[in-house]
Amino acid sequence: MSGVAQPGETATLEVEGLSVELGIGGRWVRALNDVNLTVRPGEALGLVGESGSGKSLTALAVAGLLPDNARVVAGSIRLRGEEVLGRSEAQLNRLRGRSLAFIFQNPTSYLNPLLTIGAQIAEVFEVRPELLLAEGGDRLGRGARRELAWRKVVEHLRLVHIPDPARVARQYPFELSGGMQQRVVIAMALIRRPSLVIADEITTALDVTVQAQILSLLAELRASLGMTLLLITHDMGIVAQLADRVAVMYSGSVVEASDVMSLFAEARHPYARALLEAVPQIDGDATTLRAIPGGIPAITNPPPGCRFHLRCARVFEPCVLAVPTPVTLGERHSVACHLYGEGRV
Ligand SMILES: Nc1ncnc2c1ncn2[C@@H]1O[C@H](COP(=O)(O)OP(=O)(O)OP(=O)(O)O)[C@@H](O)[C@H]1O
Ligand code: SF4
Ligand SMILES: [Mg+2]
Repeated sequence: MSGVAQPGETATLEVEGLSVELGIGGRWVRALNDVNLTVRPGEALGLVGESGSGKSLTALAVAGLLPDNARVVAGSIRLRGEEVLGRSEAQLNRLRGRSLAFIFQNPTSYLNPLLTIGAQIAEVFEVRPELLLAEGGDRLGRGARRELAWRKVVEHLRLVHIPDPARVARQYPFELSGGMQQRVVIAMALIRRPSLVIADEITTALDVTVQAQILSLLAELRASLGMTLLLITHDMGIVAQLADRVAVMYSGSVVEASDVMSLFAEARHPYARALLEAVPQIDGDATTLRAIPGGIPAITNPPPGCRFHLRCARVFEPCVLAVPTPVTLGERHSVACHLYGEGRV
């Protein structure tokens, strides 16, 4: 899976120097520091890191859905070249509707329990009638349009391998298993033909067998639809299976970004290396990173210098004194660590 991206082409997503603060306990606390990410059309970028590293906040910022106690203090977020920051709620809604689909961990909270699956998927055509234009939706009467919308709903349920899709379309969310609900949410996302799909830990709540099925579905949809994906996970195994590129986050910063093959062959940042060593070899607990002693620092009280220095086996004097800035090691490969500072690469 190399993606269809061409150098020079407008990136689907470009995050540059994004810094976000959160209001906690009466003061502003830095939660994201100078985050840079690029996703080109057709690419899948894995955003990986331990719990609390800032993955979801980054994704929420991209979608213009930051919590009320958050403020962006620096940076730029462009979706297909259009700036997200500084837009009104109405403009954001339009941009989101056209460009972005967000799939969350818990499908139950996303689905309306009072509407059938088909009725809630079909709602998208009320908001975006242009999605039916290719089939001549604008020339149809009301009844025929509803029939067309229903056919498209069933077609998309089939696309995500829901058995007997016409029957499932008439069911309510509570009648479906967690895995089936997640498939419905994926179908709902795809029907809008978004430029970018953000999937935030979408298999975490599912059991291992269903997880594997959803992951192989995503891989298949990437191949068949050229889906562009920002895939958030703490599991390097999922990154290996689905992503072309990877950005490793630690305590609000991207510490290493590269293509997946290079990272797996030769991760440079000590945290990225430790994360790889923590990948379960057979079927261990993917959420526990036993290879790294200690925990991620609280954002309210981060250590000075490199935020990883209290856990790093390679720590040396500069690490305690200064925050490392990203260094470019090769094409689209960067690392923020004093080991690779000027003259050391
Ligand atoms: N609204 C909020 N108010 C206060 N702190 C928050 C808020 N949202 C996130 N945080 C804190 O910001 C940091 C980053 O959170 P984020 O949810 O982005 O982490 P994550 O990498 O997605 O973790 P996980 O893997 O557990 O989902 C964490 O320390 C979290 O506790
Ligand atoms: S900057 Fe220092 S402490 Fe941080 S990861 Fe690199 S070597 Fe370790
Ligand atoms: Mg999260």
